[in-house]
Amino acid sequence: MSEWKQRVDLPIHPDISAESFQWRYCPPSEDDPEALKADVIRHIVSTLGSDYARKNHYNYYYGLALALRDRLVEQWLTTQRSYYDEETKRVYYLSLEYLPGKSLVNNLICLGLYHAAYRAMADFGLNLEELTEVEWDAGLGNGGLGRLASCYLDSMATLGVPGYGYGIRYDYGMFNQVIENGAQVEKADNWMRTFNPWEFDRGINLVEVKFGGRVKRWVDEKGRMRNEWIPENRVRAMPCDTLVPGYRNRRTINMRLWSARSDREFDLSYFNTGDYVGAVEEKVRDENISKVLYPSEDVIQGKELRLKQQYFFVAASLHDIVRRFKKKNDDFKDFPDKVAIQLNDTHPAVAIPELMRLLVDVELVDWDTAWSVCEKTFAYTNHTILPEALETWPVELFGQVLPRHLEIIYEINRRFLETVEAKYANLSRAELDERKQRLSLIGEGKQKHVRMANLAIVGSHSVNGVAALHTQILKDSVFKDFHELYPDKINNKTNGVTPRRWLRQSNPRLTGLIGETLNSEAFLRDLDLIKEIEPYADDSEFRKRWADVKRANKAHLRDYLERQMGVSINLDSVFDVQVKRIHEYKRQLLNVLHVVTLFNRIIDNPNIDVTPRTVLFGGKAAPGYFMAKRIIRLINAVADVVNSEPRVAGKLEVHFMPNYRVSQAEVVIPATELSEQISMAGMEASGTGNMKFAINGALTIGTLDGATIEMAERIGKENMFLFGNTADEIVTLKREGYNPWAYYEKDLELKRTLDMIAGDFFSRNDPGLFQPLVDSLLSGGDRYCLLADYRSYIETQEQVTTLYRDQDEWTRRSILNTARMGFFSSDRSIAEYARNIWGLQVL
Ligand code: IMP
Repeated sequence: MSEWKQRVDLPIHPDISAESFQWRYCPPSEDDPEALKADVIRHIVSTLGSDYARKNHYNYYYGLALALRDRLVEQWLTTQRSYYDEETKRVYYLSLEYLPGKSLVNNLICLGLYHAAYRAMADFGLNLEELTEVEWDAGLGNGGLGRLASCYLDSMATLGVPGYGYGIRYDYGMFNQVIENGAQVEKADNWMRTFNPWEFDRGINLVEVKFGGRVKRWVDEKGRMRNEWIPENRVRAMPCDTLVPGYRNRRTINMRLWSARSDREFDLSYFNTGDYVGAVEEKVRDENISKVLYPSEDVIQGKELRLKQQYFFVAASLHDIVRRFKKKNDDFKDFPDKVAIQLNDTHPAVAIPELMRLLVDVELVDWDTAWSVCEKTFAYTNHTILPEALETWPVELFGQVLPRHLEIIYEINRRFLETVEAKYANLSRAELDERKQRLSLIGEGKQKHVRMANLAIVGSHSVNGVAALHTQILKDSVFKDFHELYPDKINNKTNGVTPRRWLRQSNPRLTGLIGETLNSEAFLRDLDLIKEIEPYADDSEFRKRWADVKRANKAHLRDYLERQMGVSINLDSVFDVQVKRIHEYKRQLLNVLHVVTLFNRIIDNPNIDVTPRTVLFGGKAAPGYFMAKRIIRLINAVADVVNSEPRVAGKLEVHFMPNYRVSQAEVVIPATELSEQISMAGMEASGTGNMKFAINGALTIGTLDGATIEMAERIGKENMFLFGNTADEIVTLKREGYNPWAYYEKDLELKRTLDMIAGDFFSRNDPGLFQPLVDSLLSGGDRYCLLADYRSYIETQEQVTTLYRDQDEWTRRSILNTARMGFFSSDRSIAEYARNIWGLQVL
């Protein structure tokens, strides 16, 4: 231990308890605007070193944020102390991604301070909403998986689950997307450029993480075989805590993100060799580990830095978890009674061999006990069935970065395959070998690779899918062999979203109307209660107020887009929105085919009685994903043609909203009337955007995919626009030989649409630009069956048009959508995880 560390770790005199310090520490008062104002001024002066007389948004945003952080940390200390006092089991959520978005308003709402802050700022002559413009989105994730992790932390805090989020504090999060000449251009997201007022950097609690090197083996004095990892390189992990408050319950948990710090600046030998610049270069290389988020939703494979990122945060987190456990416990057999670790996808699955290493090599626990501890501790959530998205690592690379872990994985595999042999002793040798090959943690083929999903399944007591259909597909196909082997392991936990952010914060008007009608805001804590607005769907006065809220939200979005993009969209049109990552399986292209079809119909028949539509797209494409980027270009090219064609003016417009992110979603979703959830059935694990839209009263046009199926069960199919082939029908279609050409030949509108795209109608100055997109649908075999669903989609869009003319009926259905979405709160999801996976009781 360094001298510095010894000094800061000096024990407090045991007679002095935390309570006895209370007299010195005066917690900030809660809901008093005057106290808040005083704290804001104090922080502007003392923390920022600035002048409160300069009424700029920057000063006052930071002053307010720091005044809130004071209150959060006080709640956090109380919460953490109570966990120690009660010796509760802790839940650790390991996730390579989080998408918290902005924190100011969320924290004000959770602390019950929104109104006080609003008044305080008004007294200063400032508008609270405008202050939020200063804040950057914390975009430390790609899409659904990262935002889910943030919703889950919010729910854990609100339900009183003793949770911790662990991840990486990337210096550069998700890239900023700008559109230049219709194409996506990626700009670095330097979100840490200014000081982050929500974070506590704990520079004295650095954790050492090792990489590379070799394994030393010897027999110790008690005759035990010992394995010691002699690393080639060490990096330090610095914890950065962001506090996550529960909703008005005085509980606060933390998201601990690790930032890489080089070990080398302490290494004086570099000076001795005179290679100072070399030392600095290596230092930079070490710190690169937490430099940037890999910007791809689904397919990232084989990248050494990515493996290092995964191990880096897993090793630091497990160190922290074990340290905390050891404060009150000394027998590792008790570990699973005190610790639950949820793996958000396979990204943190290296935690399994890491815990084995800590237990067997460091704590000298015997293998069987250690393995039993691991199985009981870990649980794994799967998020995708895309085969190319199931993570693997080349064995050679894995062994270079984590030599001891590779040995441990081989040993886990050897023992596991023995149990497989025993279980299937009745099979023929050939059948057994095939089965073992499919189950093995090591895949053969051109290059041997470690299969992270197989490791996660074998090392966990629970494997869950994120919607009923997705879980069924895991059992029936993706993990079929594992399901046969462990019939009780695979279970479903349908995703949810937090109503604090996705209703209260993003849609204050609707929250106000519901709250006033029910005379309570309890639905924000128990979303099931929202069903009590259902009877009001038949009340014409209520319907009018509901419609007024939607129109006000639409106007808000119109103003936002005017500011951001300089376009003014038609308030009297149906706002038809598809915002999500751009991916072929999500079928933004199908939406484009509809737009072009509508365009043709209007041009062909200028007197056609159409319902005006504004079609809005938003979403990022992975920088290396050619087809997704080309789809963005097509959307923009179609938008250019449609929006400049006088014959469709007032009837149809199309826009691509750049840089879709959490804070933009908060503006777009409440204003949406038609939510596009049109992935090929069987592909979208759950989706959570689908839930956010429906909670905010949008009607869904969608396929029977992911959690949309469960939404339909609750909302009623008659209140949605469902279309297309089901997952089973897609399987049959493909088995019988799907031929996209047949659809092309027999459907004239479809043929015309595709011919226009291929024939450069939208790319006059760039011939052939969109040929690859059309090729993927025809000669390329149309992997996601757009052509098979085209006609059904177009006809269902006609139903949308018809219904929209009956505004009263549309509004009635909108109310029913919101009223029946109670199940999709992340509080319900977390309560299920807590009871069924983590072994915790929640109230
Ligand atoms: P950690 O759990 O060690 O990361 O510490 C988090 C917070 O929990 C500390 O800042 C303390 O407020 C509290 N805490 C840590 N150890 C104890 C303990 O032994 N008893 C009560 N509270 C503790």
